[in-house]
Amino acid sequence: MVLARLAWLAGLVSTAIAATPAEWRSQSIYFMLTDRFARTDGSTTAACDTADRKYCGGTWQGIIDKLDYIQGMGFTAIWITPVTGQLSGETAYGDPYHGYWQQDIYSLDSNYGTADDLKALAAALHKRDMYLMVDVVANHMGYNGAGADVDYTKFNPFNDAKYFHSYCPITDYNDDTMSQNCWLGDNKVSLPDLNTQSKEVQDLWYDWVGSLVSNYSIDGLRVDTVKHVQKDFWPGYNKAAGVYCVGEILDGDPDYTCPYQEVMDGVLNYPIYYPLLKAFQSSSGSMTDLYNMINTVKSTCKDSTLLGNFLENHDNPRFAHATDDIALAKNAATFTIMADGIPIVYAGQEQHYSGGEDPANREALWLSGYNTDSELYKLIAKANGARNQAIAKSTNYTIYQNHPIYKDESAIAMRKGFVGGQTITVLTNLGAGGKEYSVSIPDTGFKAGAKLTEVVSCTSVTVGDSGEVSVPMASGAPRILLPTSLLEGSALCSS
Ligand SMILES: *[C@@H]1O[C@H](CO)[C@@H](O)[C@H](O)[C@H]1NC(C)=O
Ligand SMILES: *[C@@H]1O[C@H](CO)[C@@H](O)[C@H](O)[C@H]1NC(C)=O
Repeated sequence: MVLARLAWLAGLVSTAIAATPAEWRSQSIYFMLTDRFARTDGSTTAACDTADRKYCGGTWQGIIDKLDYIQGMGFTAIWITPVTGQLSGETAYGDPYHGYWQQDIYSLDSNYGTADDLKALAAALHKRDMYLMVDVVANHMGYNGAGADVDYTKFNPFNDAKYFHSYCPITDYNDDTMSQNCWLGDNKVSLPDLNTQSKEVQDLWYDWVGSLVSNYSIDGLRVDTVKHVQKDFWPGYNKAAGVYCVGEILDGDPDYTCPYQEVMDGVLNYPIYYPLLKAFQSSSGSMTDLYNMINTVKSTCKDSTLLGNFLENHDNPRFAHATDDIALAKNAATFTIMADGIPIVYAGQEQHYSGGEDPANREALWLSGYNTDSELYKLIAKANGARNQAIAKSTNYTIYQNHPIYKDESAIAMRKGFVGGQTITVLTNLGAGGKEYSVSIPDTGFKAGAKLTEVVSCTSVTVGDSGEVSVPMASGAPRILLPTSLLEGSALCSS
């Protein structure tokens, strides 16, 4: 009894440390490359030419200074790029400003600040009841040079060839054995592939990840290149981390990607990503493929509510690279926030940045002037606000699995939440020139006469006699309906 009570008290004191999958379900994540989000000097003019692939000056202190900007969109967590010590000197591909070329896993990349700065970032987040997610790499180290020609003494602690697989380049990414045991990288920047089958390497990694999480009060991890390491490495790693881990498996096939959820808490939702792009990048995109994939992911992945949903990241061209239609960007972003899983928005998405393939998609956010009045900033704030409100007021909202309930040629509707507390999201790909019309959504699960509020336009809607809802659409904007009673205490539609 006494012990249990002490443990409970200790839990109260160390707020938001070591967050579990269940705690992450209700979060919403803002993802940034530390180098590209905010500088300590607060500059909004410092040059950053993405094509140069150089450090541009973003820091952990810069992030601390801009937490209002992030929280103002309704985010409850951030994910930052790797923090570990990187290779030095300029490579043929520029600087390791992205953090994926580590050499010393016990030191920090001093370009972003000191250990105290990183701890201060965690503390500043926790003070706001926000979580810190850090990106980690276990598959490889980074080396400025050709393929096999590596000086292993540069690495800490893996300072000998014995810690690595023997050199072979990956030539077929569909061959799992090759992907796991051969090397990423090329003859300009080598990515020496750790022998993750060796007990010695496993022990070093498991010790390291636990101490990283505890030294810097990290709440969750985003794990890089998961499919390049054999599956049986991951349960021990996830357990040693002691926090929610979400893995990158860059593959859109749910039969390939979902099984990784057996070895890690969550995976980035690449299966949804591709049909989501197709549905909303043009007005002729298929709603059927997206509708079907929602159900496929639900039945194929172990738990769709623990996946990481995204529309953009630093590895793929931005959404606006394919279309500058703001309404399409709003609908696609709304999907990632209102569907199952943990929403992830990539810094710059809210400013409608349009960079193409890496490195063009890594624009400095400060050059936007941190505009809190942009269309997408406001839309994301609405959608996160609606989701946060549902989570706060509707019991077990996050564990109810999202249900597609309607589709036609240009619209899709989905329902999430138990009866009485459900949200209905209606999305369209008609685009900014979309006509004014009403779409009738059957089977909403609401009682006849129930009062709903559509929070994007702040319009009231009454449920029809057979539980259907007639939703007014205009200018191709997305629609999010909540029971009006759930909006009590919220400023979403009161100003
Ligand atoms: C965490 O701190 C301990 C104690 O100072 C140290 O031994 C360990 O290497 C640190 N871990 C990391 C990842 O920096
Ligand atoms: C919410 O979900 C939890 C976990 O499944 C369950 O134990 C609990 O009874 C649910 N609460 C309600 C009010 O349905």
